[in-house]
Amino acid sequence: MNKILVTGGAGFIGSNFVHYLVANTDASVTVLDKLTYAASRESLAHLPADRVRLVVGDIADASVVDPLVAEADAVVHYAAESHNDNSLNDPSPFVTTNIVGTFTLLEAVRKHGVRFHHISTDEVYGDLELDDPQRFTEQTPYNPSSPYSSTKAGSDLLVRAWVRSFGVQATISNCSNNYGPWQHIEKFIPRQITNLIDGVRPKLYGAGLNVRDWIHADDHSSAVWTILNKGAIGETYLIGADGEVNNLDTVKLILRLMGHDENDFEHVNDRAGHDLRYAIDSTKLRTELGWKPQFQDFEAGMVNTIAWYRDNEAWWRPKKAAVEATYAAQGQ
Ligand code: NAD
Ligand code: TYD
Repeated sequence: MNKILVTGGAGFIGSNFVHYLVANTDASVTVLDKLTYAASRESLAHLPADRVRLVVGDIADASVVDPLVAEADAVVHYAAESHNDNSLNDPSPFVTTNIVGTFTLLEAVRKHGVRFHHISTDEVYGDLELDDPQRFTEQTPYNPSSPYSSTKAGSDLLVRAWVRSFGVQATISNCSNNYGPWQHIEKFIPRQITNLIDGVRPKLYGAGLNVRDWIHADDHSSAVWTILNKGAIGETYLIGADGEVNNLDTVKLILRLMGHDENDFEHVNDRAGHDLRYAIDSTKLRTELGWKPQFQDFEAGMVNTIAWYRDNEAWWRPKKAAVEATYAAQGQ
């Protein structure tokens, strides 16, 4: 697989994947990205121009998608509207990008016979009780809660139908919450780190007992590369690194690592329909394809992530005031 089309490659996880491809493979990469508020050209800066090309365009526009798919050996589809809070304020772009955009890509890979890997989330499975001994597996029924997760669930089902009905050569992965460099500061971890850099107390939704299963974005990238090369067509693989932590403990960890009293945060309005717990069982990916995560020390990963946001203030600073104004208007 020499020529890879990465949709959403100027966003958080997509840009980490492009960096991963440049460092670990010989692939040449075309990024198709609409450059929404969530994207950043700078996330792809300093990559070799003979390996990475950025095309600015919409995945829901067949006239843009078709020729790019035609020249690719594989499409890895990250592009999405990705933030739950935004989906509660305005679901419309979630339907257009996550559902119509995925449909548009599927029609193009069907027409040109191109390998497709669809990036999705564990949030399609809904949430778990705190004391539930079960974790999500590939057999867990879909039960999404938010406009974000329901549109991702819809896109997954389109991929499955295009495999069965039209023989599209596709795989799907559903990953848990990612952290690492280049994550937009609207998201939980970078929001708290950049708040503390600004002398603002971290903001915890509700009581903070919600659990997220954290994985470093580099581990997500290595898992996707493994599935792209070794995955069985039509299969779904769950990606996770056994990283369950509740939000309260995550905020306390960030406070401690940044030299503050670990109780120096504030409770803010909870999210409507807030999922309680996500937890992934990634046995299938590990046993069938031999993948394993490299970054399982959450504290060490957080030290590096804090250092990245300290060192790259120019990357996030222009977005900070608008993000906080939006949250403040919601009492968050
Ligand atoms: P992000 O919001 O940081 O990036 C999304 C990218 O998609 C942006 O660069 C944006 O410009 C681009 N995009 C949006 N609409 C587009 C359109 N219509 N056409 C072309 N490009 C468009 O998101 P992320 O956190 O990097 O998530 C990437 C993918 O991974 C998503 O599919 C998401 O559902 C999935 N995922 C995310 C997480 C997580 O923890 N963030 C976990 C599991 C799965
Ligand atoms: P987020 O990063 O939005 O990811 P997701 O909704 O996909 O899990 O939020 C992670 C968790 O952190 C979620 O339980 C909501 C919570 N949260 C806060 O407590 N405070 C915040 O400022 C934000 C943005 C999120």
